[in-house]
Amino acid sequence: MSEETTATPFYDVDRTYEDNYASGPFGAFAEALGGDAKDGVTADQVARTLNESAPEAAHTPAESFFGIPVDLPFGIPAGPLLNERYTTAAFRMGYDLAVYKTVRSHAWGCNPFPNVLAVHPRSADGILDPGSDECDDGVLADHRFETPISISNSFGVPSQDPDVWQPDMQRAMERAGVGQLLVPSFQGSRHDGMTAAEYVADHVTTARLVMETGAHVMEMNTSCPNEGHNRLLCHAPDQVSTITEAVKNEIGDTPLIIKLAYLPSDGDLEYMVRVTAGRGLVQGFSTINTISAKLVDAQGAQALPGAGRDRSGVCGAAIKPSGLDMVRRLAALRERLGLDYGIIGVGGVTTPADYAEYRAAGADAVMSATGAMWNPGLARQIKQS
Ligand SMILES: Cc1cc2nc3c(=O)[nH]c(=O)nc-3n(C[C@H](O)[C@H](O)[C@H](O)COP(=O)(O)O)c2cc1C
Repeated sequence: MSEETTATPFYDVDRTYEDNYASGPFGAFAEALGGDAKDGVTADQVARTLNESAPEAAHTPAESFFGIPVDLPFGIPAGPLLNERYTTAAFRMGYDLAVYKTVRSHAWGCNPFPNVLAVHPRSADGILDPGSDECDDGVLADHRFETPISISNSFGVPSQDPDVWQPDMQRAMERAGVGQLLVPSFQGSRHDGMTAAEYVADHVTTARLVMETGAHVMEMNTSCPNEGHNRLLCHAPDQVSTITEAVKNEIGDTPLIIKLAYLPSDGDLEYMVRVTAGRGLVQGFSTINTISAKLVDAQGAQALPGAGRDRSGVCGAAIKPSGLDMVRRLAALRERLGLDYGIIGVGGVTTPADYAEYRAAGADAVMSATGAMWNPGLARQIKQS
């Protein structure tokens, strides 16, 4: 049974991306920074609060993430933590892993507002099967935000210019407490007429810019659009292999995680693993991103405004079985191929039981975007359980 959500999401879906960037986070995350829970916080307020906070008590973290000590390998994946204020609030709310939103080599605009709608798959359990006709026929999307929550995520991966995100990312890293880690996410940017070599070079440039902030580990988004309609970079494993080789040459021993979308074919997934982790180019996989579906309103018309937005990524509760499936298959491959890559399970984690389910499936770490947005206390609930 579904019911209306009550907590204020730390990202306000009724405001533009730019407004969220400038004024967020909201709700409990704003309170964690010492700001006004309703109206967000100003940079001055945050700076004041941070200067007043006492240093955290020293302790020995119980777990590790790519060799770096962390208290609980649970956090928020790339996307909803737009800048240092968001990542600092996440740390204070007990998320020991905070991924700084995917950055690019240059400023990149956001898709038109709105970007987030509530998504209601047809099935009684609210699950969206990536291979189903429903994804092509249309899934209802509107403003009824209910639990279990599923949403559209149609931003187009906006980024600030490096002049803005580099110092902000550096500050974000410095705000991590004992047993906490800031993970930067980045991706290459494709332009019309760009050669394959230029596209690889853009990834390398962005990785170098991230390295300059002092990153200890980094994530590269390969579940982003590639050449051809509805094709993602991770649907082209040889290209991912070439890019990760070039990036790895740039970043040396720093662990590289790649973010994968759902890959339905076992053969495709094994090939991806062999040409990346199997070659020592990639140390971890974070999966999944979103499931692509056509979104329609109650009249059957396109739900999100503008050309090229008939389909959107769906995330939240609807995609949990797909996320778990990818984690199980990656864990089985790891065993069979004798490799030792890390697995970060993402997709539809909204309760402490979901966290446990992902760990049992073979995830070394777990992250929640949609679940944490609407239930900012999720990390504490997992720690209490
Ligand atoms: C608001 C929002 C923005 C996102 N932006 C990005 C992004 O910039 N880069 C990325 O790799 N994934 C992005 N994602 C995808 C998430 O990292 C995650 O893979 C996906 O939402 C599935 O997890 P969930 O079911 O817990 O939401 C975004 C998700 C949300 C909700």
